[in-house]
Amino acid sequence: MSRYLFDNAAVQTAGRFSVLESRYDTASRNALARTGLGPGWRCLEIGGGGGSLGDWLGELVGPEGEVTVTDIEPARAASRRRAANVRVLRHDITRDPLPGDGFDLVHARLVLLHLPERQRVLERLAGALRPGGWLVVEEFDCGWTPVLAAPDDNSVLLFERLHGSLLALLEKSGAEPLWGRHVVRAMLRAGLTEVTATTYAEAWPGGGEGIGLHRANTGQVAHDLAELGVTADELDAFLALLDDPRFVVNSYPLVSALGRRPGERTSR
Ligand SMILES: C[S@@+](CC[C@H](N)C(=O)[O-])C[C@H]1O[C@@H](n2cnc3c(N)ncnc32)[C@H](O)[C@@H]1O
Repeated sequence: MSRYLFDNAAVQTAGRFSVLESRYDTASRNALARTGLGPGWRCLEIGGGGGSLGDWLGELVGPEGEVTVTDIEPARAASRRRAANVRVLRHDITRDPLPGDGFDLVHARLVLLHLPERQRVLERLAGALRPGGWLVVEEFDCGWTPVLAAPDDNSVLLFERLHGSLLALLEKSGAEPLWGRHVVRAMLRAGLTEVTATTYAEAWPGGGEGIGLHRANTGQVAHDLAELGVTADELDAFLALLDDPRFVVNSYPLVSALGRRPGERTSR
């Protein structure tokens, strides 16, 4: 039975959403803007998490447009002050009926990676578009996180061991950590056209904001890591490394893929 490994009810969620917003929202906004997004558009934001991108979409589409933000655990997005044209719904994209159809834009960031039925979900999302509408799917490729600088070789080995264990947990929960590199192919397979992608990554130094994502993720699953054989000393040393400015690791590369439902726009 699969489950979302990083349940939003955990205390580490605020830290995770804060890093995703601060380190990746600019790349996501740039990708979304390439669709020509503007006033009057109807948008669906799947697995909206902290809600920052849903709010940004709401501003861009203006009062004539609307944004539906969904999540299996929407409390964080729902707690934000938001414009009247943004609604937040509790919704499971793997089994609930779609909250509408004929969308101009459907967006999901770092959601399908976690879902074993990701191809089927992607096809559902494509089916929720109007002819000519855009699907934007953004995913990490967790297989390319080279250590860029370290105080010594043991630190590199420690990071790789702990990070490898985290990826093993993700896979056990039904996630596909390398999904980012498969998204373009999945979009083509779903029948989308004009498929393109860009990838964003940066260096994350110890003690900085971005590397806090590793702190939030490993902290949330510390118990499961212990079951995989990670000792308390190793976890402590790993967390200390994340605070050491001599340690620098590449961020997860975010692959932002765009594709379009075939057909011409019909008037509403
Ligand atoms: C890694 S977070 C990403 C949040 C946000 N999209 C972002 O990039 O900042 C994944 C989000 O997907 C949500 N999620 C997981 N499974 C889901 C499902 N079956 N349907 C809808 N949302 C889901 C989680 O609750 C969480 O908020």
